[in-house]
Amino acid sequence: MRAKYVIVLGIRPDIINYEPLVRRLRREKADVTIVHTGQHYSYFFDGLFFDQLGFPKPDHHLEVGSGTQAEQLAELAKKFEAVLAKEKPDLVFSFSDANPALAGIVASKMGVKVVHLEAGMRSGDWRMPEEKNRRLLDSISDYLFTPTRGTEANLLREGVARHRIHRIGKPIYEVLTDFAAEIDKSAVLDEIGVDRGRYFLATAHRPENVGVRRPLSAIVGALGELSRTYGVPVVFPAHPRTQESIRRLGVRVPRGVRVMDPVGFLEFSKLEKNAMCCVTDSGTVQEDSCIFRVPCVTARISTERPETVEAGSNIVAGVVRGHIVEAVRTMLARRRNWRNPYGRPDCSARMVRVLRRLDGEVRSPKVWWDHPRAHSGSAVSGYRRSWKDAAYPDGI
Ligand code: UD1
Ligand code: UDP
Repeated sequence: MRAKYVIVLGIRPDIINYEPLVRRLRREKADVTIVHTGQHYSYFFDGLFFDQLGFPKPDHHLEVGSGTQAEQLAELAKKFEAVLAKEKPDLVFSFSDANPALAGIVASKMGVKVVHLEAGMRSGDWRMPEEKNRRLLDSISDYLFTPTRGTEANLLREGVARHRIHRIGKPIYEVLTDFAAEIDKSAVLDEIGVDRGRYFLATAHRPENVGVRRPLSAIVGALGELSRTYGVPVVFPAHPRTQESIRRLGVRVPRGVRVMDPVGFLEFSKLEKNAMCCVTDSGTVQEDSCIFRVPCVTARISTERPETVEAGSNIVAGVVRGHIVEAVRTMLARRRNWRNPYGRPDCSARMVRVLRRLDGEVRSPKVWWDHPRAHSGSAVSGYRRSWKDAAYPDGI
C-alpha cells in the first residue's frame, strides 16, 4: 500500500477499537499519521488507554476538549483542516459515530477521500448526536467499511452503491482476543474486593440518560434494587458527567452500588468477563458482553447493535426502573450459549486486504493540493479543472 493515511481518534472507544487496525498498518509499513482531536483528555479516558494498549503517540493533537456539539465541531473543523493541508493524505479514516468522526466531513469538503469504519449502524433515535453523525458520515464517505451483514443491509436499503461497501468485521472482537491474556492477569477483582460472578457491572453516560433526574434516578434505583434482590454489589465505574449529575441532581445512591471513577481497558474487560450481568447505555459494552458471553441489559430505548439482541445476549429494556430489573431477571435465566454474531477476530487483516485492493483508486489525483490558493473561497470561482483531473473521475 503506497497511499498516505490519516487516522482520526479522540475518545476512549476510538483508541480501543483502532488498536488492531493501527498495529496491522504499522506492521505493513503503511504511511500512517495519527490525529487526536483531544475530545477525551483525562488520564482515565485517554493516556491510560495509550499506555495499556501500547498505542503509538499521536502525530497531531487538536486539543478540541469539552464543549457543546457545535463548539466541538467548529474547533475540530478549523484545526483539522490545517492538519490536512500540511499532511496531504490520500485517505482519512473516521471511526463510528462520536464527534471525532466528523473529521471525515472536513476531509470530504477538501476533496480528500474518506473511509468510514463501523459504517451502517443505525439506532433510529434522532435524539442522539451519534445517530446524526452516523448518517452524515455514511452519506459523505467514499468507502464504507461495515462490521456485520445487518449494517450492510442498512446501507443498501438507503441506496448506497454496493461497490462502496466492504465488510471487514468488528475491531473490538480482535482487541479482546489479542489482549485476552493481559485481561485475565488483571487483579481488579481483588483490588476492589468483589468475587468472580458475584457482582453486577454498570455504566451510564448518555446525556439523555444521565443529564436529567428521571432517567438517572431510574437507572441508579434499578441498580440498588438489583443489589438488594441478589445480595451482591454493583460495580459502577461512572463517567465524570454521571458523577457530576448525581451530585447536582441530588440523586441518592443506594447501598451496594459502588460508584467509582472509570477504570482502564484491562480492568474493565476483566470486570465485564466475570460479571453476573452488565447494565449499560454504552454501545461497545453491548458488544463486549456478547463476545464474553455475559448477559447484558441496555438501559436505552434503542440500540444500533441489534445483532446482540438477535443473538440473545442483550435486552433493550428502556429507562424505567422496573423494566431494567425485569430484563436482568430474564437475562439471568437465559442460557449463555448464544452465537457470537461477529464472525472471526480478523478485522485488521480483512481491512488491509481491502486497502491493498483500493490502493490505486485511493491515490488518484488530489486536485485541491495542486492549487496554491485552493483552500480559500476566492480561489474556487476562478479555478476549474475537468472531471478527468478531479479526485472523483467518475463524478460520484
Ligand atoms: C463521547 C461521545 C459518545 C461516546 C463517549 C465514549 C460524542 C457526541 N459523544 O461522549 O458517543 O459514547 O464519548 O465515552 O462524541 N469529560 C471529562 N474528561 C474528559 C472528557 C470529558 O471529565 O476527558 C467530561 C466533561 O465534563 C465533558 C463531559 O465529560 O463536558 C462530556 O464529554 P464529551 O466529550 O462531550 O462526550 P462524552 O459524553 O464523553
Ligand atoms: N471502558 C473502560 N473503562 C470504563 C468503562 C468502559 O475501559 O470504566 C471501555 C470498555 O472496555 C468499552 C469502552 O470503554 O470497550 C466503551 O466505551 P464507552 O462506553 O465510553 O463508549 P461507547 O462505546 O458507548 O461509545
